[in-house]
Amino acid sequence: MRYGHFDDVEREYVITRPDTPLPWINYLGSEEYFGIISNTAGGYSFYRDARLRRLTRYRYNNAPLDLGGRYLYLRDDASGDYWSPSWQPTQRELEDYSCRHGLGYTIISSRYQGIRAETLYFVPGGENLEVWRVRVTNDRPGPARLSLFSSIEFCLWDAQDDATNFQRNYSVGEVEVEAGVIYHKTEYRERRNHFAYFACSEPVVGFDTQRDAFLGPYRSWDRPIAVERGSASNSIAHGWQPSGSHHVRLELDPGETKEVIFLLGYAENPRDAKFDPPASQTIDKRLLRPTITRYLQPATVAAAFEQLRARWMDLLGISQAHTGNEHVDRMVNTWNPYQCMVTFNMSRSASLFESGIGRGMGFRDSTQDLLGFVHLVPSRARERLLDVASTQLPTGGAYHQYQPLTKRGNNDIGSGFNDDPLWLVLAVAAYLKETGDASILEEALPYDNEAGTERPLYEHLQRSVAYTLERLGPHSLPLIGRADWNDCLNLNCFSETPGESFQTTENRSGGVAESVFIAGLFVLAADELAAIAAIRGDAQAVARCRTGAAAMREAVARHGWDGAWFRRAYDFHGRPVGSAENDEGQIFIEPQGMCVLAGLGLDDGRARLALDSVRDRLATRNGIVVLQPAFTRYHLNLGEISTYPAGYKENGAVFCHTNPWVMIAETRTGDGDTALDYYLRINPSAREDRSEIHRGEPYVYAQMIAGDDAATPGEAKNTWLTGTAAWNLVAISQWILGIRPEYAGLRIDPCVPAAWGDFSVTRRFRGATYRVTVRKQPGASGRVTRLRVDGQALEGSLAPLPASPGAEIELEAFVEAAP
Ligand code: GLC
Ligand code: GLC
Repeated sequence: MRYGHFDDVEREYVITRPDTPLPWINYLGSEEYFGIISNTAGGYSFYRDARLRRLTRYRYNNAPLDLGGRYLYLRDDASGDYWSPSWQPTQRELEDYSCRHGLGYTIISSRYQGIRAETLYFVPGGENLEVWRVRVTNDRPGPARLSLFSSIEFCLWDAQDDATNFQRNYSVGEVEVEAGVIYHKTEYRERRNHFAYFACSEPVVGFDTQRDAFLGPYRSWDRPIAVERGSASNSIAHGWQPSGSHHVRLELDPGETKEVIFLLGYAENPRDAKFDPPASQTIDKRLLRPTITRYLQPATVAAAFEQLRARWMDLLGISQAHTGNEHVDRMVNTWNPYQCMVTFNMSRSASLFESGIGRGMGFRDSTQDLLGFVHLVPSRARERLLDVASTQLPTGGAYHQYQPLTKRGNNDIGSGFNDDPLWLVLAVAAYLKETGDASILEEALPYDNEAGTERPLYEHLQRSVAYTLERLGPHSLPLIGRADWNDCLNLNCFSETPGESFQTTENRSGGVAESVFIAGLFVLAADELAAIAAIRGDAQAVARCRTGAAAMREAVARHGWDGAWFRRAYDFHGRPVGSAENDEGQIFIEPQGMCVLAGLGLDDGRARLALDSVRDRLATRNGIVVLQPAFTRYHLNLGEISTYPAGYKENGAVFCHTNPWVMIAETRTGDGDTALDYYLRINPSAREDRSEIHRGEPYVYAQMIAGDDAATPGEAKNTWLTGTAAWNLVAISQWILGIRPEYAGLRIDPCVPAAWGDFSVTRRFRGATYRVTVRKQPGASGRVTRLRVDGQALEGSLAPLPASPGAEIELEAFVEAAP
C-alpha cells in the first residue's frame, strides 16, 4: 500500500494522506541554518549545531510521535470554525491534502470548506532564516473573512538543558516585540550575542509570545484558546515558555488569493554592539532589519526559491543515469544524492531517530558519508577532510567523534574503535580521484588539534595505516579495540552492569580480540595508499603498504577463513566469532562484503564461496541480514550486539549500510544480476508499494530493516542519517552502472543484469561532461573491453582525462557477450 507517489519530473515525493505510518520528513537548509519538517509541518530548526543552537523546541518520543512544529491555523471568522492546513495538530478532515517534499523545500497544501491553503517552507541559499510562504485562496461563491495564526515554540538554545533544567529555565525566557516582529532573546542580556526572530509580511492585529497565553490552560496545540476565540492576547513572555504567534486577518473575495510570508531566523550581533541604544538592554536590530525587509517581499522569496531549485538541478546534473529501471533512475538521479547531502551535513545528529543532542560528527561516519558526497561539492568535502584529519591522534588513532562547533575530538562518546583511521584513507582517495587535487596531501594539519604538531595530510594517512600494523593480534589480524565498523561487537567489554554504555565503559585489559573485517578494510586502504604513494614516487611507502597488505591477505587466508565464508573475529580468549563452530552468530555479513570488495579470495574461489554463503544464509526478501543465526541470549564476550532482540539492529536486522558492500563484491565476481537484485531489495522506491510494512519514507534509505527473526520483518527504522546513503550510491553508480572516477580517467565498467540492453549516464568529471552510452546486447554479461571516445576507438574501459576543461565528451562503451 502507498501513501503517495513520486513526481520524477518535479523531483518531489507527493504524500497524499496525512496519516503516514510514521512522520515522513524532509530537511530544510544545507549550509548553516537547518530544519526538519514532517509531512504535517512538525519538526524544529537550529543553527549549525542541533544541540547548542536550537531555535525551536521539539519533544521527541511524544504522543502522537510528531507534535510541535511550524503550525498555522485558519479560522473562519464568520462561523468560528478553525483548522490546520497541515492537518496536524487540529486533525480536521481536509479535502485534497498533499505534502510535496522536494529538494530542500516542502509544500503542504489542502482545502477545507472551500478555502485552499498552500504553504511553501524553505531556507534561501546563503541565509540563516526559513521562509513560510502561505497562499490562501477563497474557492467559495461568496467572500470569506478569515484569521490566520502562526505558531512556534522557542527553544532556550541548548536543547539538552532546555529539556531538563526546568528550575532555571522557567525563569529565564525573554522576548521583545517590535513592529510585528517577535524576537527571542533568552540569555542575550548576558553572554549570548545571538537571538531568533519571527516576522510576518502582513500587519498583525495581535500576537502572543507566552505559550500558555496562546494555548490556554490545560490545552494543547490542537485547540489554542487564541485561535478558538479569534484574538491573540499580546502576551509578553517572562520565563516559562517563550513562543511566537502572529494573528493576521484576511478578507478574500471569491476566487481571490492572498500571500502571507512568515520568516523565522537566527541573527548575531558583534559582541560589543548588542544593544540599541548602547546603554539599554534592547536588541540592536539595525544589522538584521534589511534582511527582514527583503525577505518579506514576495519577489525576493520567489527568486530565492527559484535559485534553490536551480542549484539542485545543477548539483544533480553532475551525474544522471537513464537505465529504464525507474527505481534505479529516481534514486540515482535524485533521492540518493539528496540523502547524501543530508548525511554529509547532519552526520548522525538530527533526525526523528537522532535527537540532535547526543552525537557530534563521527570520524567513521563522516569519512564514509563523504564517499557519496564528494562529487557534489568537492570544496566542502575538502574542508571536511581537513577538519576530520586534524582531530586524528598522534598514534594514528582517532576520536570516534568530534563536535561541529569546536571541531574538537570528544572522548565522552567512546574511543578506541580500531577501524576508524582507515576510513580516512578511503575518503581522501575518493577525493583525489574525483578532483585530481593532490595539493590536499600537502596541507599541514595538527594531531589532536594541538598547535605545533602540524604534518602533511599525506603523513596522517601513513599513520592511519601504521596504526593497524602496530596493533596485530596472535593470528596476525588487526586488534579490534572497542569495536570496529560494528559498534556493537564489543569483544573486550564484558559488561554486566545494567545500563552501562558499551561505547564508553572501560575495556578489560590484555585483550587480544581481532577483527577479520578490519583486515579486509586494511587491505583496501593499504592498496589505496600504495596507489597514492606511487603517484608521488614514494617507493618506500609503496613497499610498506604492499608488504603490509600482502601479509594481511595471508593472515586472512590462514586464520580468517572458516571453510565456506570469512570469519568475523576472534574474541578476547582467541576463540572464533562468526564460525560454524559457534551455536549462534555463525556467519556475519561484514567480512564477506569487505574482504571480497578488497579483492580477497577472488583468485582462489573463496570470494564466490563466501558470496554463495551470503545468498544461502543471509539474504532475505527485505535485504541481507547482518548475521545468522541471530543471538537469542546475552553473550557476555560479544558485547552490545546480543543485547538487541533477535532480528533488530546489529543482531540480525538488515543493516542496510552493509548491503552495498555485498553488491560491490558481486560485481567484482561479475554477477550483475545478483548485485542489482540485492540493490532493489533495500531500494526504498522499490519498497514503496509495501509502505504499510516498511513504514519509513519511501524516498530515503533506512539504517535498518527488521530481519526475519524479528516480530516485524520488513519494518524500517532510523531513516535518513545512515552510511547506507553513501555506500548505496557508490555501489549503484560506480560498480553496477560502473562509472568510476580514477586517477587517470573515468572507468566505464558496468556489471548489470544480463537482460539489460543499452543505457546511458551523463557524468561531469574533472571539468568535462562525459556522455556515456553503454552498448549492450540483452543477454550479454561480459565486461567492457573497448570504447569509442568522440568517435575514436580505444582498447580497455578507461576513458582518458579531458584534454581541456569544459569539454563535452561522447563516449560509447561496448559490453561483450558472455565469455
Ligand atoms: C551506526 C553508526 C555507524 C556504525 C553502525 C554499525 O550506523 O553510525 O558508525 O558503523 O551503526 O554499528
Ligand atoms: C551506535 C550505532 C548503533 C548502535 C549503537 C549502540 O551509535 O548507531 O547502530 O546500535 O551505537 O548503542
